[in-house]
Order: sequence, then structure tokens, then C-alpha cells
Amino acid sequence: MDLRVASSDELDTVLAFWAVAAENDHRPADSRAAIAALHLRDPGALILAVDGDEIIGTVIAGWDGWRCHVYRLAVAPSRRRQGIGRALIEAAEERFRALGGTRADAMVLDDNPGAHGAWAAGGYRRQAEWSRWVKPL
Ligand SMILES: CC(C)(COP(=O)(O)OP(=O)(O)OC[C@H]1O[C@@H](n2cnc3c(N)ncnc32)[C@H](O)[C@@H]1OP(=O)(O)O)[C@@H](O)C(=O)NCCC(=O)NCCS
Repeated sequence: MDLRVASSDELDTVLAFWAVAAENDHRPADSRAAIAALHLRDPGALILAVDGDEIIGTVIAGWDGWRCHVYRLAVAPSRRRQGIGRALIEAAEERFRALGGTRADAMVLDDNPGAHGAWAAGGYRRQAEWSRWVKPL
């Protein structure tokens, strides 16, 4: 397995990967325009785990100049529990540290216990003092 940044010609493949591998409930739908905008704005944010030509995991290490947000942590269903998710989390954290970030956070669905296990294993703790307020634009 290698970890590397996604190239612009892989974005459709990443979208197809997320359709089968990612958490897709209670969130805005992914789109080609949205992933292209991410890649244009911050080409280093979308990190892939690959096995040869095959994408087996993803994470978005989003740095906005102020905070560090992790999105789209996903591992191919057939490749789970092999340490890929852990490696992707660590790759995101490495990027954040290099950029000067001091804390990473992730949005995690309450009814996604597998994700809770992965984040907890990575050292993340639920922050009970805050909840997310949203408004569709
Ligand atoms: C969550 C996810 C990314 C974890 O990826 P993974 O490659 O299987 O995780 P790892 O193999 O690196 O697991 C590291 C540790 O996390 C914990 N963990 C991982 N998956 C877990 C699960 N389903 N249940 C409980 N703990 C889990 C374990 O402690 C594990 O260590 P162990 O295997 O030695 O026990 C993967 O299950 C996934 O893609 N799920 C669907 C998408 C999703 O929910 N993403 C998170 C959105 S917030």
C-alpha cells in the first residue's frame, strides 16, 4: 500500500469509490464540481491509499489556515481492519503538523460505531461541549 495525493485525473474514480466505501448519510451529496473545487483550491488535501492502480482508501486533510478538519475517511470494504484507516488518519495529521495545525477534528455520525472505533483508536475523543449547527446554502 502507498499513500499519496490524488491527481486531477483520478477524481471520478474517487467519487465512484466513495459511493461504495464512504459514509454517505446525512450529508450533502458528492459531486464532480465539489471534488474538483477542492482539488483546485488545495491539491494536497485529498490523500489516497493505493494498491497499484487501485484506490483502497481516502481521506481529506482539510486545512483552511485556521483549523484542521478531516473528511471522507473511507476504506474499501474488502480491505478493512488491515490498518489502512489508521495510516490515512496519520497521513492527515502529518500534513496538518507540517502546515502548523495544532488540533484535528472529524465529523462522525452518532450511529456509525465502526467509525467511532477507528477514531478512538487514533486518539480522538468526542467533544461533548459542542454540537454542529448547519444551514444549507
Ligand atoms: C472507519 C474505517 C475508515 C476504518 O478503516 P479501517 O482500515 O478498517 O481501520 P483500521 O484497520 O486502521 O483500524 C484501526 C483500529 O480502529 C478500530 N476500528 C476500526 N474499525 C472498527 C470497527 N468497525 N469497529 C470497532 N473498531 C474499529 C480498531 O481499534 C482498529 O484496530 P484493530 O483492527 O487492531 O482492532 C472503515 O471502516 C470505513 O471505511 N468505514 C466506512 C466509512 C466510514 O464510516 N468512515 C468514517 C466516517 S467518519
